[in-house]
Amino acid sequence: MTIVSVEKAVKDRYGLGAETRVAELCCPTDYDPQYLEVIPHEVLDRDYGCGDPSRYLKEGETVLDLGSGTGKICFIAAQVVGETGRVIGIDMTPEMLAVARHAAPRVASSLGFANVEFRLGRIQDLKLDLDLLEDELVAKPVGDVESLLEIQGRSDELVPDAMQKDPELWSGCISGALTEEAFFAAFEEAGFHGLRILVRQQQPWQAVNGIEFRSVTVEAFKRKKGPCLERNQAVIYKGPFKEVLDDDDHRMERGLRYAVCDKTYNLYRQEAYRDSFEFLEPLEAIPLGAAEPFDCSRTPLREPRETKGRGYDLTSATAEPHCGPEGCC
Ligand SMILES: C[S@@+](CC[C@H](N)C(=O)[O-])C[C@H]1O[C@@H](n2cnc3c(N)ncnc32)[C@H](O)[C@@H]1O
Repeated sequence: MTIVSVEKAVKDRYGLGAETRVAELCCPTDYDPQYLEVIPHEVLDRDYGCGDPSRYLKEGETVLDLGSGTGKICFIAAQVVGETGRVIGIDMTPEMLAVARHAAPRVASSLGFANVEFRLGRIQDLKLDLDLLEDELVAKPVGDVESLLEIQGRSDELVPDAMQKDPELWSGCISGALTEEAFFAAFEEAGFHGLRILVRQQQPWQAVNGIEFRSVTVEAFKRKKGPCLERNQAVIYKGPFKEVLDDDDHRMERGLRYAVCDKTYNLYRQEAYRDSFEFLEPLEAIPLGAAEPFDCSRTPLREPRETKGRGYDLTSATAEPHCGPEGCC
């Protein structure tokens, strides 16, 4: 089965699902009922969501829903991120998009703000705005989106061959589902860091030929940007593991004091990492404008005097300190 016929099968099935409810499409999920009140019933009736990541969102964030369907999770997200946030839903099935777009102004008027937009597009090719392309194809006599899509694409080998040939399994989120390993690898390849499993269904939603299918909610952060600068900061990994390896290949043993660049230091202070580290500011701060480049390809230990200052010789104990054979810390 080619990617073109798979896509067509998925579109056809979701196209039908946009018109009437199809019970077998995707996993049952519980949503916070307070967010459902403003969502029109045709969206709720034809919803095939497979997980609810909305409880991990924060006010002001920008949310991208890949495969947004009739828009349920987008409309929930819109309420969580609020007026200062933004939600973009992408879907390739025009019928799904039509339901979502029809509902959007009504949700906006109930909320008192409009922060959701829906775009026609394919997850695997987000740069291509299919609405624009379609406008151009209609204006110029070169065919339509369907015929263009037909000459594109090749299939990726992720699930057994027989399952790949089954359009029912494709449209039911079975064939084409990523292995958990490939799911993480895709985030890493796309340049995200700090990946964390927030929810992993214990009971599979379905099993086919002994292969279990479940939904997994993962948190990941966009790749940090900007130069690596030396500001004499240090971090200590607190454990419980003997050592950790971050997405930039910084390997750190528990309890040791490591030199990190300003960017890594600030990143570790964010919520996902901060409980794992102790943060050591230098006694004399190096202003950002005066900071030298830091070689982030290494993870050197930081000599305490680099943070405390070479001349640091404070004595606060009144009695003689009792140091062990390794000296005092
Ligand atoms: C499970 S439903 C969406 C549910 C929605 N995200 C929610 O939680 O309410 C899956 C949607 O993904 C869309 N879809 C599947 N493969 C796609 C692709 N390659 N590009 C864009 N949309 C796709 C289908 O058209 C369908 O509307």
